[in-house]
Parts: sequence; structure tokens; C-alpha cells
Amino acid sequence: MEISRPITPGQVSALLGFIPVFVAWLYTEYLQYTKNSGPSKVHSDVNLAVLDKSEDKDGESATLLEEGHQASSNKSTHVTSSTFSPILRFLWMDEAFLLENRLTLRAISEFGAFLLYFYICDRTSLLGESTKNYNRDLFLFLYFLLIIVAAMTSFKVHQDKSAFTGKSTLYLNRHQTEEWKGWMQVLFLMYHYFNAKEIYNAIRVFIAAYVWMTGFGNFSYYYVRKDFSLARFAQMMWRLNFLVAFCCIVLNNDYMLYYICPMHTLFTLMVYGALGLFNKYNDRGSVIAMKIVASFLVVILIWEVPNVFEILWSPFTFLVGYKDADPSKAKLPLLHEWHFRSGLDRYIWIVGMIYAYYHPTVEKWMEKLEESETKVRISIKTFVVTVSLVVGYLWYEYIYKLDKITYNKYHPYTSWIPITVYICLRNFTQQLRNCSLTLFAWLGKITLETYISQIHIWLRSDVPNGQPKWLLSIIPDYPMLNFMLTTAIYVAVSHRLFELTNTLKMAFLPSRDNKRLSHNFVIGIALSAALYVLSLMIVSVPAMLV
Ligand SMILES: *[C@@H]1O[C@H](CO)[C@@H](O)[C@H](O)[C@H]1NC(C)=O
Ligand SMILES: *[C@@H]1O[C@H](CO)[C@@H](O)[C@H](O)[C@H]1NC(C)=O
Repeated sequence: MEISRPITPGQVSALLGFIPVFVAWLYTEYLQYTKNSGPSKVHSDVNLAVLDKSEDKDGESATLLEEGHQASSNKSTHVTSSTFSPILRFLWMDEAFLLENRLTLRAISEFGAFLLYFYICDRTSLLGESTKNYNRDLFLFLYFLLIIVAAMTSFKVHQDKSAFTGKSTLYLNRHQTEEWKGWMQVLFLMYHYFNAKEIYNAIRVFIAAYVWMTGFGNFSYYYVRKDFSLARFAQMMWRLNFLVAFCCIVLNNDYMLYYICPMHTLFTLMVYGALGLFNKYNDRGSVIAMKIVASFLVVILIWEVPNVFEILWSPFTFLVGYKDADPSKAKLPLLHEWHFRSGLDRYIWIVGMIYAYYHPTVEKWMEKLEESETKVRISIKTFVVTVSLVVGYLWYEYIYKLDKITYNKYHPYTSWIPITVYICLRNFTQQLRNCSLTLFAWLGKITLETYISQIHIWLRSDVPNGQPKWLLSIIPDYPMLNFMLTTAIYVAVSHRLFELTNTLKMAFLPSRDNKRLSHNFVIGIALSAALYVLSLMIVSVPAMLV
């Protein structure tokens, strides 16, 4: 078995970090097992059930646990607990502590196992690889097959009430946005798998639609809930970057290889900043208008004025720099990829914010329309649909059909057109608005995980920072069978990773306890630093001996 070299300190740290947790988890399962087979079975089961639930909500599990078993000895450790006591209790293999955190240990172990699988698939020659092959007929066949299956098995009419008015008009509801994400994601992934170069421009529009949803969703959230707390912020960053951070470490890749993650992180931060600054005044329309104008000005300054982008981002090159493994592209400036990717969708998040701001108004307006006379209603709807179709057609004819390079030049200024057309057509009747394909909505929830995992366990890049040029091949010589098998594993793993990211988020980022949150943060940094220094020494020892 070949292993890609050299081994980095980051990889060694990850290994050193996961092994003790894995061992501790096995030991904990053993403890749990012996406990359950002992006489106090019922008692401890109840306690753990309480614990599992409370841990999901927030971090008060320790208090709850004390009331049940292990009462007295546990209490004293808890009272005198310092920042580092969880680590000490872990190192002493404190039984109560391990049992308390059994599910967390299990989640970390499972997460580590998936990362190992990533590494094996992408960086060793244990599993094979094959080349990509595009056939339009097959591509469309598979996609339409999926739509038919989704329509037959998961078509659903929703009866939810509108959040704003309590009526059931549902405009831009969650099912719809998730379904939208889902069907776009499937095309996006198939585009990579089959190397379907001819839909390049459509893929650009899909990415713009995701960024539009980032602006739309986050604006609505912060505008309505007004929750700018540290915990919420940390959880959001965790959701976007937890998996990708570990992929970068374990596979020795640049963050920018997964450009969707830095891009969504940036635009989420920009929405957060736009609404969070002076958020006391968000109720005033004029303030929101000024914020929107300011957002446009910031984007124009950074992306349209020459050199500003480079000057602003050059201190962050360690984070957003990217050097392609392909020698023909390795000569590009390190910030080129970031400039290109972030530049394509630089305006669309602001458009998303604007749509979110007017969302309640349009919703009210649409309700009135539904209640109005049939004649008026039909003529207005016909008018909207006709205009959408004409505009959509013109966009397709004059923008979409351009070649890739020219298209990319127009993209930042025109991507709102197909998005708006889709939104209008998707909702022009109440029936259409209320139904969705839940299979696509399910896929839409795990887009981040499917995006990241595809590079390693569905496709293959072979080397650090390589674009995924190959397909993972588990069954050689049977491309379709292989496609089926790798896809099934890949989607299942992505879904588990989505759940694990959430489980671990709840375990480490409590919602209403800022003190514990910062403790966890400090411990995390200290632990990573210690592991890294240790690994650096381990890695450099053989070099010194030579
Ligand atoms: C139309 O459908 C889209 C598609 O998901 C949805 O997000 C949007 O809110 C809807 N718009 C209107 C005007 O109802
Ligand atoms: C904010 O945007 C990010 C990135 O797209 C997304 O994952 C998250 O769900 C959004 N938050 C809300 C509240 O919609």
C-alpha cells in the first residue's frame, strides 16, 4: 500500500488526538455494558436517558447526572472544577466522566473513522480509480430518473402556516428552499462526476442561488430573531467549517480547495456584520436601506477597484491562498482562486437580503391577490408568468449561451435574473407553492457534507490540493455498478457527517452558557497547540537522525 508523502504534523496530531478518544470510547462502552448487566440496570438506564436528552439541549448534563448515580464523589470534583478538569478527568479515565460523555466519545470516534475512510479512499492505492466519462444521454437519464422517483415517492403537500400572517400562502418557505438546494446539488455533483462541461454556466447560476439563499436565510433570521449572541455565532461557524477544517488537516489540503466553505463563511459574516452593526436601529426602513447601500459600496470598493482585493486579503493568504497541484495552474497568484470564486457571487447575497426584507410585503400582496376576483387574479398571474418566461428566454439566449469566459464576466451582474425567474415561476399558483419533493429537500439539508465528501470518497484527487480529476473505483470494470455502490456509501456517509457535526456542536458549544463556551474554546486551542507541537517533534525526529 502506498501512502502519499510526506506525513504532515497536522496528520500526526489528528491521529494522536483520535486514538485516545477511540480507546476511551471502547472502554466506556465496556463500562456501560458491565453496568447494564449488573443489578443497578434500571437505575442507570434512566439516568443516561436523561443525560442524552439534556446534552442535546445544552451542557447541563453534569448537574443532572449528579442527582442520580455517583452522587457524592462526583459532586466534589464538579464544585472544584477548573478549566482543565475535563481533560484531567479524561486522562485519569474517571469512570463517571467517561460514562457521562459516552455519546460524545462515540460521535468523535465515528467522525475519526470517516476521516480515516476519506484518507484511505483519496490518498492510498488501496482502492482504485477510473476516469470520468461524459455521455449526455446517460446524464439526463439518471437525473430524470431521480426526479421521477422523487415525485412518485416523496411528493408532499404542506399545510404549514405562514410565519408572518398565519395564513397558508407560504412564499419562499423552508421546504421549497431546501428542495431547491437539493435538485441543484444533484446536478452540481453529477456535473463533477461525469465532467459535464457543457453545463458549466448553469452550475455558476446554482452556486449563485446558494449564495442568494445565504443572504436571504441569514437576513431573515437576524432581522426577525435579533439573536447576535456569541453562542449563535460560534454555532454558525462550527456548522460551516467543522468538517472542512478536519478535511484540510487530515488530507493536507488548502481551505480554498473547498471554495464553497470560505465563500459561504465570508458572505454569512457579511450579512451578520451588515445587520449586527447598530442593530438597535434595524426597525427603521431608512437604516436598512443605508445598510444595503453600504454593502454595495463595500463590495464595489473591494472587488471593482483594482488592487484593493489583493491588499486587503494578502495578510490572510495562509487561509485563502491556493496552489493547484496541477503544474499548469500552479503559477497563478495564490489569491487568484479566492478572487475568482468570491468575485463571481459578490452581489447576489445583497440581492438575497433585499428579497428577504421585502418578503413580508410581497407575501401580504400575494395573499390579497389570492383573495381577489378570479378575473383579476388570472390576468395578473398570466402577466407575471409571461414576463418571467420572456425575461428568462432572453437571458438564456443572450447571456447563458455565451462561452464560459465571457459568461463569467457578466455573471456577477446577471445571476439575479434566472434566480428571480425561478422564484416567480415556482410560486405562481398556491398549489405549486404548497408542494415539494421531500427527497430533494432531504438532499438539500446535507449539501455542505455532500459537497465536501465528494472530493474524497466519490471522486478522487490523489494528491494534496489536487482537483478531483478521477473517480473512486471500488468495482473495477463495472462503471455503473461502481457508480451505484460508491454513491450509496457516499450519500450515507455524508448524512452521518451532517448528524455528527450537529451532535458535536451541541456537545461543545452550549447555547446559554458563555462561560463554558469560552472555556471550551480555550481548552480546544490549548489542546490543539500541544498536540501540534508534539507532532512537530515526532515528525522531525527521523529527519534529524538521517
Ligand atoms: C417561489 O419558489 C421559490 C423556490 O424555492 C421560493 O424559494 C420562493 O420563496 C417562492 N417565491 C414566491 C414569490 O412565492
Ligand atoms: C446562513 O447561511 C449559511 C450558509 O449558507 C447557512 O448554512 C445557514 O443555514 C444560514 N442561516 C440561516 C439562519 O438561514
